[in-house]
Amino acid sequence: MSETNTTTASTLYDRLGRRDGIARIARELIKNHLANPLVKTRFAQIQDMDQTERNVTDFFCVGSGGPGSYAGKDMLNTHRGMNISEQEFVSVLDDAMAALETCGVEAPVRHEVLGVLWSMKAEVVRV
Ligand code: HEM
Repeated sequence: MSETNTTTASTLYDRLGRRDGIARIARELIKNHLANPLVKTRFAQIQDMDQTERNVTDFFCVGSGGPGSYAGKDMLNTHRGMNISEQEFVSVLDDAMAALETCGVEAPVRHEVLGVLWSMKAEVVRV
């Protein structure tokens, strides 16, 4: 087990491999979305993917207890009007779990992230 992925590290940010680990996870996540038939058309429309990838990285760094700041839109304003279904939501969470696994994040930490993502459902689905 690598140092950064143990459940004994102090914050979720540490457990995800800090900024470098999270940046890699964000890249994998977007790659998975673009290959996922259930959601790819949503993500294919993004104008500046580098900016979105940076925002997603910042969002997870700050949200997992790391340093820095998030300059993107809040979850409600980001997803408002997209009419995202529950099926799409679960599919995006599946993509996230797969990205974490690809990046070598252990199952207990993956499940910790799953809980955090699930808690945001009301700010994403049908808003
Ligand atoms: C807990 C689940 C989710 C989280 C934490 C999340 C997080 C984010 C974040 C941080 C951004 C970047 C915002 C910005 O650049 O200002 C974003 C953008 C986006 N999200 Fe989500 N998202 C989630 C679920 C979903 C789902 C289920 C869909 C659709 C299937 C979706 C579609 C999008 C799209 C299309 C964008 C780009 C918006 C734009 O560039 O205007 N997201 N999301």
